[in-house]
Amino acid sequence: MTFLFNSDARRGAVFADAFARELPDVPFMMDAATVDPDAVRYLITWTAPEDLARYCNLEILFSIGAGVDQFRLATIPEQVKIVRTVEEGIVRMMQEYVTLAVLALHRNLPEYLAQQRAGDWHDIPQLQAGSRRIGVLGLGQLGQAVLDRLKPFGFPLAGWSRSPRQIEGVTCHHDEAGLNEMLAASNILICLLPLTEETRGFLDADLFAKLPKGATLVHTGRGPQLDHEALLAALDSGQLSAAMIDVTDPEPLPAGHPFWSHQKIIVTPHVASVTQPATAARAVIQNIRRHRAGLDPIGLVDRSRGY
Ligand code: NDP
Ligand code: OXD
Repeated sequence: MTFLFNSDARRGAVFADAFARELPDVPFMMDAATVDPDAVRYLITWTAPEDLARYCNLEILFSIGAGVDQFRLATIPEQVKIVRTVEEGIVRMMQEYVTLAVLALHRNLPEYLAQQRAGDWHDIPQLQAGSRRIGVLGLGQLGQAVLDRLKPFGFPLAGWSRSPRQIEGVTCHHDEAGLNEMLAASNILICLLPLTEETRGFLDADLFAKLPKGATLVHTGRGPQLDHEALLAALDSGQLSAAMIDVTDPEPLPAGHPFWSHQKIIVTPHVASVTQPATAARAVIQNIRRHRAGLDPIGLVDRSRGY
């Protein structure tokens, strides 16, 4: 009944303490070389190890992040449950990041930074929050949390998901017609979709053309969802006025890539949210308890949807 931890030692030490305290009957191991593979029931990792098949009694494969697109789901044995990390640290950090990005774009920060570099002192007419409409792609744990945090600012809020949702204070859309309606009314578009075959390349020229002229983009989903060339073209034509990008394809962004020096783009190195070990360990332990009680773990991935 061993738990195998395959991530950095600093986080591992926090997990080890939590397991010793909360789940002492589950041996906690951090060294795949010395573990008895037959004993491993639970594995937490970012990418699935090449030799995953040696853990023939594995019951749960935990992703240490909120996404599971780094796993090749079809190669993971059918009986293994795949569970992503749903923990308050990831949620809080994403709320902070998206709030930072929305306020930076709302208050014209990319333009003011460019003006500062040019020694240019003049004001840009400021739209008020009630006239800056926000659309969020993805209404899962992060999309909803971000919308909740944005509520006090007074922006009109909308969101889009695969299935219909009802969220107080948010105009919720689904299906293609709903997407088009939301895009046409989004001055700031935020992408918080998981990467699946359906969302790969989703942020493309067609989508940008459906936004109001001068709209802005916050991309905190996954790099392969964004067509880099299309973003550059939309910024050059003025269809988009600025973007804050946390995820790219590839990562790291290569030297010389146009995003590095683009005046209308702010790039951060995939840091919007980072799994916090103390709260993540608590969430994983809770999920092991649920699993042992015959309940589905929180964050159980639906293989047919890919997220
Ligand atoms: P969830 O699974 O909770 O939510 C995903 C949402 O996307 C759901 O609302 C889902 O719809 C919607 N969705 C998925 N596919 C489609 C589709 N084809 N069409 C319409 N809607 C769709 O995920 P989280 O909110 O926890 O995380 C979202 C993503 O954020 C992660 O997968 C990851 O890629 C990214 N992320 C980025 C981080 C960073 O640091 N940059 C950190 C953490 C996560 P429905 O509600 O109907 O299921
Ligand atoms: C995650 C991430 O999925 O860091 O948690 O992107």
